[in-house]
Amino acid sequence: MKDFNFRTLTRVKYGVGISQTAATLCKQIGGTKAMLLIDKFLLENEAARKIINGFEETGMPYVMFTEIVPEPPAMVVDNVVAFMRNSSCDVCVACGGGSTIDTAKAICMLQTNPGSIKEYLFGGTKKPEKPGVPLICIPTTAGTGAEVSAAAVIDDTEQQKKLSVTDDMIIPPYALLDPTLLMSVPKKVAAATGIDALTHAIESYVGQSANPVGEAFDLYAMKLIADNIRKAVFTDDIEAKGCMLVAAYMAGVGILNCKVAVVHGIAQSIGALAHVPHGQANALILPHSLRKSYVGNPAKFKEVARILGEDVYGLSDLEAAAKAADAIDKLEDDLGMPRHLEEVGVTRDMFPQLIAETMKYRLLSNTPIEVDEKYVEEVLIEAF
Ligand SMILES: [Fe+2]
Repeated sequence: MKDFNFRTLTRVKYGVGISQTAATLCKQIGGTKAMLLIDKFLLENEAARKIINGFEETGMPYVMFTEIVPEPPAMVVDNVVAFMRNSSCDVCVACGGGSTIDTAKAICMLQTNPGSIKEYLFGGTKKPEKPGVPLICIPTTAGTGAEVSAAAVIDDTEQQKKLSVTDDMIIPPYALLDPTLLMSVPKKVAAATGIDALTHAIESYVGQSANPVGEAFDLYAMKLIADNIRKAVFTDDIEAKGCMLVAAYMAGVGILNCKVAVVHGIAQSIGALAHVPHGQANALILPHSLRKSYVGNPAKFKEVARILGEDVYGLSDLEAAAKAADAIDKLEDDLGMPRHLEEVGVTRDMFPQLIAETMKYRLLSNTPIEVDEKYVEEVLIEAF
């Protein structure tokens, strides 16, 4: 076994209705005024209204910010930082999808660290030196694992690139996992975010940086997703939705410790250039990438195939490993997802730029086999 480090720095509470305790938690951790960052459309949502009511009922002072945009551009983040500073808030509650939580992670960090978010993005000049203002995350989609991860993805609109701040200082200290908030998520979003979580679990489990503790989180996340994603997407079963929420959290712990790899590299390039939602981009790339990578670690891919429901009895590791991608194909077909890049606005003339951007991705070396331009091109052609 290789030497490894493992950490999970987020205190997590799961429960039906647990999000209503956010205001009380703010008080318990010593907050005197909260910044409530919440997606605008959630103001119509009964479960989200109950979070706001909690602030009214407990008398916890708060200000609300609802103008969050998906995949937040750096300028938007800086504007929210200024808004929070001017409001004198000393605790933050973020209720929403990955973009909202990423925005919150960045703005909480910038309350205690000087400068603009652009200075902290990958390749920038600054590194967070101090923990941010305490952040309580309430995810409303089951996918990103942003509530436990050390990264915040920010859009650098000038360069048409997605960049991230990655540092343990931005890991949220608290998360409330409440499946009632998932009840109104559209099927398309539930499917895409669920495949994002599955991609996290698979990429971190089979990756070069995997360690036994992270693998345990990844394996159980895969099992929860395999057993629940179809029911969670197509029905109102709160138990299945809760399992997906926990799976996304567990896969988030997986990537915090064992990292993602080439699927995310290609998906992030597609997202920035063709504005395809993150989970959807991963879904389009995942099976084609797995078909190229399984030879790098057949025993682990065999386990992935088995957990995802493939019959691997009597097969060699290599034969069984090849079936992992088949399981993903079946799942994405069942979920009714787009299966070709051309369906979501990617064109062939984007390939050179997609390949070039992917080759700069800092986690490519975590892929089970060596990734070169030919690998990326072949995946894009097969996914097209
Ligand atoms: Fe992801």
